[in-house]
Amino acid sequence: MTQDDMKKLTAEAALDYIEAGDIVGVGTGSTANFFIDALAGLKGKIDGTVASSEASAQRLQSHGITVLDLNAVGDLPVYVDGADEATRHLHLIKGGGGALTREKIVAGASSKFICIADDSKLVDVLGKFPLPIEVIPMARSFVARQLLKHGGQPVLREDFITDNGNLILDIHNLDILDPVELEIELNAIPGIVTVGIFAQRPADVLLLGDKDGVKTLT
Ligand code: A5P
Repeated sequence: MTQDDMKKLTAEAALDYIEAGDIVGVGTGSTANFFIDALAGLKGKIDGTVASSEASAQRLQSHGITVLDLNAVGDLPVYVDGADEATRHLHLIKGGGGALTREKIVAGASSKFICIADDSKLVDVLGKFPLPIEVIPMARSFVARQLLKHGGQPVLREDFITDNGNLILDIHNLDILDPVELEIELNAIPGIVTVGIFAQRPADVLLLGDKDGVKTLT
């Protein structure tokens, strides 16, 4: 089974968490794209979706799936999205695609967060994948200096602007031993919009695809 086969199988397994009449939160990235394609088969049963990025909104619409503004709907029953790294505690690093801010908002607005990933994403300690941080442009250098004090090596993501008009710093060399605490600390730095650690609001279910099929971690 290829990595894409694993992503597709895992994305399809997430359909079990969708109920008739749901408004579904939809994430961003290659695994989320497989979920969007699978969701097209259910489009007559759900009441619509809220997308975590412009790219996902476009893909949903290309399937004829309704995309709604989060401000026009209440809290969502379910959010399905990928991750760049995940632990057995369901703490995540997200933002490899740069959509972390809207992803964190939609995750926060959802009762259940189903994370879908292939087993290459499972780690004991978060941080080998450089931690994405969305930053207000005028704060870029100030925030980078603060991150150096935390032992990280910030690297500006070249030629990239988020859907919100901001920059991404990718922080290398962090061993994130206490994800909840680091998320809180970094959130307190002025100029940081969103930290790509999803630990205060972790996933509720991690569907992990490997060569034998899909495992469910809760
Ligand atoms: C997007 O900003 C990210 O949070 C994605 O969820 C993450 O990068 C996973 O993407 P893949 O499914 O492409 O690995």
